[in-house]
Amino acid sequence: MKNKFYVTTPIYYPNDIPHLGHAYTTLAADVLARWNKLNGKDVFFLTGTDEHGKKIENVAKENKKSPKEFVDELVPKFKEAWKKLNIDYDYFIRTTDPEHEKVVKEILQKIYDKGDIYLGQYEGYYCTACEAYYTEKDLVNDCCPIHKRKIELLKEESYFFKLSKYQKKLIDLYEKHPEFILPKNKRKEIINRVKEGLNDLSISRTSFDWGIKLPFDEKHISYVWADALTNYYSATRIKGKEKYWPADVHLIGKDIIWFHTVYWPAILMSAGIKLPKTVFAHGWWTFNNEKISKSHGKVINIDELISIAGVDSVRYFLFRNTVFGEDGDFSEQALIDRHNNELANKLGNLISRVSSLIEKNGIEKCENKLLKKLKLKEIEKLFDNYEFDKILNEIFGFIDICNEYVQNKKPWETKDKKVLYELADSIKAIAILLFPFIPSTSEKIAKQFGFDIEIKNIKKPLNEKNKIVKEEILFQKI
Ligand code: MSP
Repeated sequence: MKNKFYVTTPIYYPNDIPHLGHAYTTLAADVLARWNKLNGKDVFFLTGTDEHGKKIENVAKENKKSPKEFVDELVPKFKEAWKKLNIDYDYFIRTTDPEHEKVVKEILQKIYDKGDIYLGQYEGYYCTACEAYYTEKDLVNDCCPIHKRKIELLKEESYFFKLSKYQKKLIDLYEKHPEFILPKNKRKEIINRVKEGLNDLSISRTSFDWGIKLPFDEKHISYVWADALTNYYSATRIKGKEKYWPADVHLIGKDIIWFHTVYWPAILMSAGIKLPKTVFAHGWWTFNNEKISKSHGKVINIDELISIAGVDSVRYFLFRNTVFGEDGDFSEQALIDRHNNELANKLGNLISRVSSLIEKNGIEKCENKLLKKLKLKEIEKLFDNYEFDKILNEIFGFIDICNEYVQNKKPWETKDKKVLYELADSIKAIAILLFPFIPSTSEKIAKQFGFDIEIKNIKKPLNEKNKIVKEEILFQKI
């Protein structure tokens, strides 16, 4: 059996159309999925939408629609956006799928039967925009620390999950498996907070209806995060997908790390289900140094994003510009600069010069000494560590070496077919390695130079019989 690789994105709230922040995680998952597929793994890439809860109920009401009607209109916007960005996911889960609802009930029942759920009274703060509980000390000027809005004081009957019981087990998990929370600096923060102590978690609400009823008490609706987190597992309960659990990596934004590294493993431990291997939290994007948000700030939607310089340039920019795991700032100018200086001037120029010289002079097979300068092992290691910016740096370093080789060897004067062969064979390696990031550009290059995009072809010499001609320019300068 092939090695499997299961990668997930958060499931997005369909309370509005998707934006840059949502695209980022989904693109990162696409990069990892494509890389693992290239390496022959049996990949399952899951994304979807988080459709229950008070937040969705409220926005549907504002729009004079039922929650289901409302989300049914927005879900296609997410699917269209991912298609436009050339994101090749394997399955799209919706928390309103009956199969998902069944698994949520099954898990809640399991935890209840185990004695990890009890009835109590919740008295405390709740931010509907975050769908999260807060204590007095979390608040900033009586407001939610994230949304800076007035926060609701809740007092209602609620079932509680005995999260406190799992404190030691969670600490053991973090210590035995340092790869469970990545990047490393985030891991320390979580360990410190868990060591301070855990309150039991209110896992049901009675003051609204839009959600999954608790199987042991239908007056109560499941807390939306207990419902949502379960998606990662419920998607593998579909026939034929069982082999993918546990997930290899849950990619998320840093704002939702607590839910994924504390609530989620504790729920799984209680239900007796294997734990995911890694939760990786990336940073947040600002737009021209302003917060991306509908209420206060700027939102850049997917069509605007693509219209600046094309799909592959956005994909390239997002992973080249910022360390995955740290915050970044998006600006149109920065994207255009990288499009012009790196994609057009370096990659585009190399392809166009070499193909036009080959069209005139042809190639002759020889040992490719140039390829020895490509640090393939290092690139593989960087993929294992989610260091996307460094991977692109390495590949573009090699592109520079190839461009210098053209400059130094002057094949337009020497008409040296062997030099041109080395360059064409090196371009093959470059295009294969860039495929996870800029797939449609890589496909164009593969077609032009006549090779298939497979890892083994990096080292397999290019066929000298290939007819290579100059094609349309890959990146028009802006
Ligand atoms: N529905 C929950 C996730 C449940 S997962 C079991 C949720 N949804 S969300 O739509 O609000 O956000 C989804 C993701 O988008 C989060 O990982 C969040 O970090 C990410 N981003 C939202 N804005 C972002 C930026 N400005 N920059 C980077 N990522 C951002 O939370």
